[in-house]
Amino acid sequence: MKTIVVANQKGGVGKTTLARHISFYGQRLQLNTLCIDFDPQADFSKSLNNLQDNAKDTSKHLLASHLFNSKGDGLLPKPCSKNLQLISADTGMLKIERGDLQKAIDAGKQSLRSLSNQYDLCVIDVAPGISNLLVTALSIADYAISPCKPDRDAIDGLLAFFLNVRKVQEEAINAELASLGVLLNQVNKNRAFHLEIEKQMRAAWGTSVLPAVLYERAAIDTAKDRPVWLTDRGESTSMAAKEMLEACACIFDQMNIKAGK
Ligand SMILES: Nc1ncnc2c1ncn2[C@@H]1O[C@H](COP(=O)(O)OP(=O)(O)OP(=O)(O)O)[C@@H](O)[C@H]1O
Ligand SMILES: [Mg+2]
Repeated sequence: MKTIVVANQKGGVGKTTLARHISFYGQRLQLNTLCIDFDPQADFSKSLNNLQDNAKDTSKHLLASHLFNSKGDGLLPKPCSKNLQLISADTGMLKIERGDLQKAIDAGKQSLRSLSNQYDLCVIDVAPGISNLLVTALSIADYAISPCKPDRDAIDGLLAFFLNVRKVQEEAINAELASLGVLLNQVNKNRAFHLEIEKQMRAAWGTSVLPAVLYERAAIDTAKDRPVWLTDRGESTSMAAKEMLEACACIFDQMNIKAGK
């Protein structure tokens, strides 16, 4: 199982949108995909629970806080769609947030290890801000990817985030963590300063800025409970769909995951 965390300390930059689409892309490649929601806002959980083919299942399933305690013994992630299972956000996470960080990291690693033989891909969505849950997610993941808007405050948030990634790597909490860098999101082609910021970021950060870009698209904003590339009429040929598929292909390429596993 390869685990990727979608993170940026800045809010509203497209973390959940990307986490959702990375998960849908895993499903598209027929990878058994585990989605974990570490954000108490629970947007990722909501989207997956709203999937059309999600059978309304009210039985008890494994929740995010259970990864850190023994309350989930015997429970399983919730099946949401073919090849897509969810560990939902829950209020128990607040206790984890206030508890001992090292204990959370050790328990989280152990829990992921025990789930890893059932899945090919694990996608973790986190809340904005610096939190124990963010550090825990970075400590148990193989990869981190950061969506970022072409906006000064978002870039400042990103720099702070990269310092935290380096800390996790250097303090040997997770020396194996590979940062895939930044995915520019919500770029508006009609705004000269967006294009200028993109140019400057690429000049300064080189390959740490992914070649793929997600542009500001209404179709992405409305596709909350389905992949943007799939509409009621089937596969979409929209620019939004094409760009999202390209972005996901680029991320999977960096994780060395090929179609057909
Ligand atoms: N490329 C895009 N084009 C248009 N709208 C987008 C795009 N990316 C994200 N959005 C919209 O922007 C809003 C914020 O996105 P999202 O919820 O994914 O951000 P987030 O980083 O997870 O936010 P939070 O920090 O609150 O968790 C959402 O309404 C989403 O639909
Ligand atoms: Mg979010």
